[in-house]
Amino acid sequence: MPLTPPPLSLYIHTPWCVRKCPYCDFNSHERGELPEEAYLQALLVDLEQDLQLAGERPVETVFIGGGTPSLMSPAFYRELFAGIRARLPLSEHAEITLEANPGTTEAARFEGFREAGINRLSIGVQSFNNGHLQALGRIHDASAAVRAATQARAAGFDNLNLDIMHALPGQSQAQALSDLEQAIALQPTHLSWYELTIEPNTVFYRSPPQQPDGDSMADTEEAGFALLARHNYHRYEVSAFARPGLECRHNRNYWEFGDYLGIGAGAHSKLTKAADNAILRFQKTRKPEDYLADPAQSRRQLQPVTGADRSFEALLNGLRLTGGISLQVIADRTGVNTAEWEGLLGDLQYRGLIAMEQGHIKCTRTGLQHLNGVLETLANTL
Ligand SMILES: C[S@@+](CC[C@H](N)C(=O)[O-])C[C@H]1O[C@@H](n2cnc3c(N)ncnc32)[C@H](O)[C@@H]1O
Ligand code: SF4
Repeated sequence: MPLTPPPLSLYIHTPWCVRKCPYCDFNSHERGELPEEAYLQALLVDLEQDLQLAGERPVETVFIGGGTPSLMSPAFYRELFAGIRARLPLSEHAEITLEANPGTTEAARFEGFREAGINRLSIGVQSFNNGHLQALGRIHDASAAVRAATQARAAGFDNLNLDIMHALPGQSQAQALSDLEQAIALQPTHLSWYELTIEPNTVFYRSPPQQPDGDSMADTEEAGFALLARHNYHRYEVSAFARPGLECRHNRNYWEFGDYLGIGAGAHSKLTKAADNAILRFQKTRKPEDYLADPAQSRRQLQPVTGADRSFEALLNGLRLTGGISLQVIADRTGVNTAEWEGLLGDLQYRGLIAMEQGHIKCTRTGLQHLNGVLETLANTL
């Protein structure tokens, strides 16, 4: 089947932080002097190279992630968006998100980000418990997080996400729920509630902290989901909760096998070339100094996604959504004939782990609790 190109998003990576957190495996590096001007020019060169590959397509969402994007100045973003708008058609109602860390912001900076065209903010709070913030190596305390959220609001960011983590070292269920309650009290439009995972190549991997056991983690999750639902935050993805209609459009595009260009050190991209029946993945040079040295050559080899990998990747992402993913969308975006899956998926359906409803394939509640097992079965079946 011919491919239909999905919506296109733009991801911009800023790779610097004040200090590296012991649990973090993102491409982030302790900052020295921030090379703002050089990075700005590098991002635009990088974007131009990618646009030669992508052709002219409107961009529907932009996400500036890190690292700590709020370390860069409002002037950096003003110039960056002027450069982006000069090079591609940014949709009039594009969602433009920036990740901000408490402890790196003040009121004037938020106003500057808003003036630069950023219309959604994601604040990395993690916890409101100062002991846990210290254990996580964060540079801020709880009051700085409350201040950041309040100042962001005052600067006009009415579309606001807070990141909170649970399963923290020594954390009780009451403490985890108290973190959520304090987040809810700030009335964000969106909450991301992540379980702390121990990733290779982190300080926590080398000396693992004591986390709550599996059973109490599962109990805490159930209690947290109920608390969020009572406050009208609807769970639409494994870790994402939103007020109705305020889901993150950018992340939704990832989960629905949409296209994205990733610019900046280490950024990943996925691009559909319908005329060639091709789906490509590629990544940029990871180390900031190597990236800055030659941004025009920062794109590593193009990796075509073919055959069963297409179905698997679409399901790997789409099954994270509580409503699942439309079979028609999968067919349009992968070229796969999903009617052929019926026999293959019978076992997972019979075991009550996945369901087909109204043209969508989705995990059941139990399936979502055992998502890794479901994906393993799919990897062996498709
Ligand atoms: C790209 S990160 C960084 C955002 C921002 N620099 C910050 O730390 O506030 C986005 C979010 O991922 C979550 N995160 C990072 N590492 C994690 C881990 N090992 N386990 C669970 N969540 C993690 C944190 O909640 C973090 O805010
Ligand atoms: S501030 Fe955020 S991106 Fe930076 S090291 Fe910590 S978790 Fe990672």
